[in-house]
Amino acid sequence: MLDSPSNTITVTDNRTGRTIQVPIIDGTVKAMDFRQLRENDDDFGLMVYDPAFTNTASCRSAITYIDGDAGILEHRGYPIEQLAAKSTFLETAYLIIYGELPNKAQLAQWTHDITYHTFVHEGTRKFMEGFHHDAHPMGMLISTVAALSTFYPEAQNVDDAHSREIQTHRLIAKMPTLAAFAYRSGRGLPIVYPDNDLSYSGNFLSMLWKMSESKYTPNPVLERAMDVLFILHADHEQNCSANAMRAVGSSRPDPYSATAAATAALYGPLHGGANEQVLRMLGEIGSPDRVLEFVKKFKNGDNRLMGFGHRVYKNFDPRGTIIKGIADEILDMTEPHPLLDVAKELERIALEDDYFIKRKLYPNVDFYSGIIYQALGFPVEMFPVLFAIPRTAGWIAQWREMITDPEQKIARPRQVYTGERQLDYVPLEAR
Ligand code: CMC
Repeated sequence: MLDSPSNTITVTDNRTGRTIQVPIIDGTVKAMDFRQLRENDDDFGLMVYDPAFTNTASCRSAITYIDGDAGILEHRGYPIEQLAAKSTFLETAYLIIYGELPNKAQLAQWTHDITYHTFVHEGTRKFMEGFHHDAHPMGMLISTVAALSTFYPEAQNVDDAHSREIQTHRLIAKMPTLAAFAYRSGRGLPIVYPDNDLSYSGNFLSMLWKMSESKYTPNPVLERAMDVLFILHADHEQNCSANAMRAVGSSRPDPYSATAAATAALYGPLHGGANEQVLRMLGEIGSPDRVLEFVKKFKNGDNRLMGFGHRVYKNFDPRGTIIKGIADEILDMTEPHPLLDVAKELERIALEDDYFIKRKLYPNVDFYSGIIYQALGFPVEMFPVLFAIPRTAGWIAQWREMITDPEQKIARPRQVYTGERQLDYVPLEAR
């Protein structure tokens, strides 16, 4: 014991008295190292139990760094504040996927490659016409991105680097097109095809809002605000949807199918669906004077104050702070938002409340994003769709890293079986 290397832990199994030394690598121990602890020869070996992966690293990743206690978020080492202030979404997507900021020629090529793929096959448009008139756009997006795999069967070849590259371009290019088609068809409006003269965000706004004008010219402030919102949502390391992308991708289907799974994970109200719920909640509160009464309901553990709390951040979510700034800028240009005062009062009261202070519950990225989206004219159902567009860059980066990581295999957790065993079948008439 005395000569144990300092970068190990010594574990004694009190059932058998056996002691093992487990190496500590990068602040982690390998779960498999515990398997050698057995009660007897028939024993499977010790497993670790971690429902919801609250303390389990599932991969090594060099994409996104978060220090949740300090409220720090960096992509490939660059602070989110600098990217939001100085970069564009396409440049940030390149950084996230390839690991470095592009030079001029690389950025020009990348922008060309994405722009070239913005159109979708006409069959995709026809497919989308089949949805019910009031279909949720997120349901449409999930299904349609999965359907893209039927148009690009070569995408199954996930071990081919060239194929991965083309599918990367297609996915980033086509998500805004699908999202805009879902939006327009839900409103009974004719589809607007991509305008490849415009920027990534400008083209998205054109596909959403263009009416009879021959060419849509995006408002530069709104175009930049959209682009910054896209930057803020581009990646967030091993969140629920990134984990879905990696887990589904690990059985090696094409990336469209894996992206559909990730989009489905994002849809939930505890993840990307939260901003939709925030708006509904603020609407339910109605006015600032009702906030105090309302907050009481969230202190019994049964209800969640939507847009508050985070698995990783135990401090302000840095994206939330930037978004609050954008909200002020946008709301100066648009009609005053009736729920902004409710949101500000809710934030003020929650941040002074012992329940929230003790649990380190701060506003997250979703708290103000919904207000901005609504001020921009989006219906609440579009909120998670607006999250899915930029997050596709993060999903692809996570997927590419997983596919090429020699340590990764098919994701297949263990379980602790708690059911019956070896019962005798009882015929129906005897039950
Ligand atoms: N309102 C009230 N209480 C809360 C909230 C909340 N929003 N979030 C957590 N708590 C309480 C929870 O009841 C628990 O209390 P106790 O210790 O007394 O049992 C404690 O805080 C710890 O919560 P937890 O469930 O262990 O936290 P988690 O890491 O599993 O959940 C979360 C993280 C984001 C799912 C959760 O905070 C939540 O449901 N927030 C509301 C939904 C939301 O805003 N989601 C968007 C997340 S950010 C964007 C994204 O990444 O998708």
